[in-house]
Amino acid sequence: MPTSEIKILAIESSCDETSAAVVVNGKVLNNIIATQSVHENYGGVVPELASRAHQQNIVPVVDQALKNAAIDKNELSAISFTRGPGLLGALLVGTSFAKSMALALDIPLIEVNHMQAHILAHFIDDPKPEFPFLCLTVSGGHTQIVLVESHLKMAIIGETRDDAVGEAFDKSAKLLGLPYPGGPLIDKYAKQGDPTKFAFPETSMPGLSYSFSGIKTGILYFLRDELKKNDRFIEENLNDICASIQHTLVNMLLQKLRKAARQHKIKHIAIAGGVSANSGLRMTLQKMAEAERWTTYVPDFQYCTDNAGMIGIAGYYKYLAGEFVDQKVSALPRMKF
Ligand code: KG4
Ligand code: ZN
Repeated sequence: MPTSEIKILAIESSCDETSAAVVVNGKVLNNIIATQSVHENYGGVVPELASRAHQQNIVPVVDQALKNAAIDKNELSAISFTRGPGLLGALLVGTSFAKSMALALDIPLIEVNHMQAHILAHFIDDPKPEFPFLCLTVSGGHTQIVLVESHLKMAIIGETRDDAVGEAFDKSAKLLGLPYPGGPLIDKYAKQGDPTKFAFPETSMPGLSYSFSGIKTGILYFLRDELKKNDRFIEENLNDICASIQHTLVNMLLQKLRKAARQHKIKHIAIAGGVSANSGLRMTLQKMAEAERWTTYVPDFQYCTDNAGMIGIAGYYKYLAGEFVDQKVSALPRMKF
């Protein structure tokens, strides 16, 4: 390969996925992900267990990414890594690894904001969104509507005041006795259920803000009352309960997204983050897009949940802009845009 090529090794370790990817000239060559199953029985990610698993996984995952791309580490142009937001101990593993490797190879270091990277995952494959566009970024830790003006210029115009929507999916699933992460399981059972069977109260918030903590409490009381009447209520109605929960959450997400799109007069609309894998959200977004005449962008499933491919593509645009950081940089659990 000619030396003018930009070869970036990307590292992601913000939560419960240890991932490495090699990105050459903005093309993601691979995206190796080690998912931590250790959290399944705890109903959520256990931070200390996540850090330990990252430590075990990071060397093999990086090795595999380089081997798979047939690239020697000495050929790398830069290393990009997730600086935040995320779990401090988990972020520290990726941050320290990236810093040490960049120091040893004497190449630039690029910090990446995990939430911006979810949005930039749209630039991995075609079709790529046209600027400006709105991105509904929905994950286990965040729910944001972002106005994206360029690869590196973005502003949050709406977000949740409490729980993230992924958390609402996962906590509802936990109440139903499902393992973590419950979001994909709610999605699976919802496919066979009636979304209008049960009604859950939607919390209405001013402007473009969201709130998802009330719905979790609503579901808790609803289940408690129903279980008093019939202790097999959950197993007999699992599909309908999941479909109704999903319907409520998706509705809340899309109503605010439509409001934002109308306010900002933007017709290019994207979704990103783990919850953008949800089939109900994807389907209802398409229906809304037809009515509102939107052009929509939905990422490939492998780039919805946490992955280093998106950290690499974000790193590529920052490399082009000359945005590097020095060795003093440390993990930022609450990193802002
Ligand atoms: O982006 P992500 O992998 O990690 C964070 O940055 O948080 O998102 C994980 C979240 C979890 O809450 C998970 O339950 C949710 O995304 N999720 C889903 C689906 N797939 C993942 N939620 C609903 N339906 C899905 N199909
Ligand atoms: Zn994420």
